[in-house]
Amino acid sequence: MDTIIGQGLDRSEGRLKVTGAVRYAAEQVEFANLAWGVLVQASIGKGSISAIDSNAAQQAPGFIAILTHENAPRLASNKASAMQPGEAYPLLQDNVIHYNGQHVALVVAETFEQATHAAALVKLSYAEEIPLTRLERATDKAKKPKNFRAGDEEPDASRGNPAAAFADAAVKIDETYTTPMEHHNPMEPHAVIAAWDGEAMTLYSSTQAIAGSQKRVSESLGIPLDKVHVVNLYVGGGFGSKGSTWPHVTLAAMAARVTRRPIKLVLTRRQMFTATGYRSKTIQRLRLGAAADGKLVAVMHDTIAQTATFGEFVEPSGLATEMMYSTPNLAVTHRVAAINVGIPTFMRAPGEASGMYALESAMDELAYATGVDPVQLRLINYAEKDEQKDLPFTSKTLRECYAQGAASFGWAQRSPAVRATRSGSLLIGQGMASATYPSNRSEAGARVRILSDGSAIVQSGTQDIGTGTYTTMRMVAAEALGFPYEKVQAQLGDSAFPKAPVSGGSQTSASVLPAVWAAAKAARAKLLGLASGPSNQALQGAAADDILIADGVLSLKSDPARKISIHELMASAKLSAIEAKETAKPGSEKKNYSAHSFGAHFAEVSADPDLGEIRVTRLTGAFAAGRIVNAKTARSQYIGGMVYGLGMGLTEATEIDARSGRIVNASLADYLVPVNADVPEITVIQVPEADTVFNPLGVKGIGELPMVGVAAAIANAVYHATGIRIRDLPIRPDKLVMA
Ligand code: MOS
Repeated sequence: MDTIIGQGLDRSEGRLKVTGAVRYAAEQVEFANLAWGVLVQASIGKGSISAIDSNAAQQAPGFIAILTHENAPRLASNKASAMQPGEAYPLLQDNVIHYNGQHVALVVAETFEQATHAAALVKLSYAEEIPLTRLERATDKAKKPKNFRAGDEEPDASRGNPAAAFADAAVKIDETYTTPMEHHNPMEPHAVIAAWDGEAMTLYSSTQAIAGSQKRVSESLGIPLDKVHVVNLYVGGGFGSKGSTWPHVTLAAMAARVTRRPIKLVLTRRQMFTATGYRSKTIQRLRLGAAADGKLVAVMHDTIAQTATFGEFVEPSGLATEMMYSTPNLAVTHRVAAINVGIPTFMRAPGEASGMYALESAMDELAYATGVDPVQLRLINYAEKDEQKDLPFTSKTLRECYAQGAASFGWAQRSPAVRATRSGSLLIGQGMASATYPSNRSEAGARVRILSDGSAIVQSGTQDIGTGTYTTMRMVAAEALGFPYEKVQAQLGDSAFPKAPVSGGSQTSASVLPAVWAAAKAARAKLLGLASGPSNQALQGAAADDILIADGVLSLKSDPARKISIHELMASAKLSAIEAKETAKPGSEKKNYSAHSFGAHFAEVSADPDLGEIRVTRLTGAFAAGRIVNAKTARSQYIGGMVYGLGMGLTEATEIDARSGRIVNASLADYLVPVNADVPEITVIQVPEADTVFNPLGVKGIGELPMVGVAAAIANAVYHATGIRIRDLPIRPDKLVMA
């Protein structure tokens, strides 16, 4: 029956993207009277603004306006996201400086160059205080989070008696792992064009959350929701940084209303290091107690993360630990310390990426301590259910991921001895780690419109963040309609379409596609109802399953001579389109099951024993993430995630000057993301799985899963190669040379 879903189709907009024809947020529209906004940032780490001298800026060519805390309109609310409680974003509402890089003024001028020049002339005087900018110096301030995961989860979890079980365990691992601040660094910068027409605001904004931005700007500026229109046809990467409505969006909207000019505001790469979130630094203590044969008896995972002084976001590193392995005794805690930094946010697999680095490193240490093979150790401790929630999994195909990944990689040929394999002067090592990420799903809407030429349009107010949503919406709609893929177009990225959730938490496919399926099925039923109804001679009284749709013509399977074109049918009914709108949402399975995707990573590295240089020579990932809608864009997501994980393992870290709180490597020259030369042969294995408990389409979602565990697999391979255990990411040559 399935003919389209599951194929590996080219990305719908792929040709447009590679030929440069796609218009991203800042390029979406041309306005004759466009003005440019450029933001000014605080250059101290803590304190307050004592004076602002904007005389020189106001004299500069092209100057239109400056907004500061002294003249900016008062806002009705200053939150960036419902997911980050207690926050009061710095939106020019007071003179307090919470951290270095905070926006303190917005200059508007006729051109980008003029706005940049005028912004450089703004002189700020400060009452300066000494900032606290290093998490490791603030651990005594760490507190229990007030509203962990927006109240959806508890910061602490336990079962059994972990302290006693650990104390009595035959084998003990007790180590601390640290992960650095990391920045998302999407290729497309954060950018917005805000246009105010006297009563309504239109935002062309690079966002992972059209509906979220609409709501936030509506609330902040006190404009009715239906008077805020958000458009965003393409996103050049977000990775979580574009899930919230950051200050520049609200400030651009504010400036558009004040100046009555459409404002274009594009953040610089440097500005994206201070005001669009990042992954928190973490300090994680892992304690594993096991029997001599490797069976876990106790797991304890204590995380300290940083947040800003003006709001709480907690990197939830221990959540995956609660459900990953079978153990009768467990304790997980999360603590958060407020320091003078920007606020962290969701960054690709927030929590799982940092936490599974620690857990999967500790599991590798346990494998060596017990002499059990690392894959075998994970099988010994395989969790058949979510033991913390005491719920069955909607589906779990992790055993097959281990087996297929290991077979493809050649894990059985690996010699367990450390520092024992060489290739010329280089040491060679192999390591593995598990991957997991929750399967999320939220309410979403979609509309399907069948046109008289036999084509169809599917619409949803979702966004394609590069994952292939245009393509998968078309595929699912075409399949449900019984139309060829080429006859279906997808439209998204507009708040006027049926509402869909944030494209975060890897939930877009699992949320939107069931709505697309339902809307397409409903539209098809309407079409067939019209065809078999009393007004149409040709197919009158036909049973729905006896009607075939091909080449824009409806005919009877049992009597092909009886037929009518969609065009004729609609013309006789005086219809220009047949339309259906549906919403789909999770049901009782959310309470009765635990839903996660799973995978296994295998990494091979070479290590130069003299220079400490690590190269990843092979990466293999095997994943089970429900039914795969498009095998080709799915594979691209897996590869992208694995490369993201490679960066986490080897290169990425944001460095802060502790005296000023200034980020010292706020550029792509100094913040190192992997380049092609760093990326080895990547093998992706898509292990078949369908999860119809989770949703009727069987789709779980990919996005964040494939980066989880990569850094641990690499760290474990580095240990196997060198005998040196690096417990502090990233694994850079200096740490190996000095170790
Ligand atoms: Mo993801 S960090 O929820 O975009």
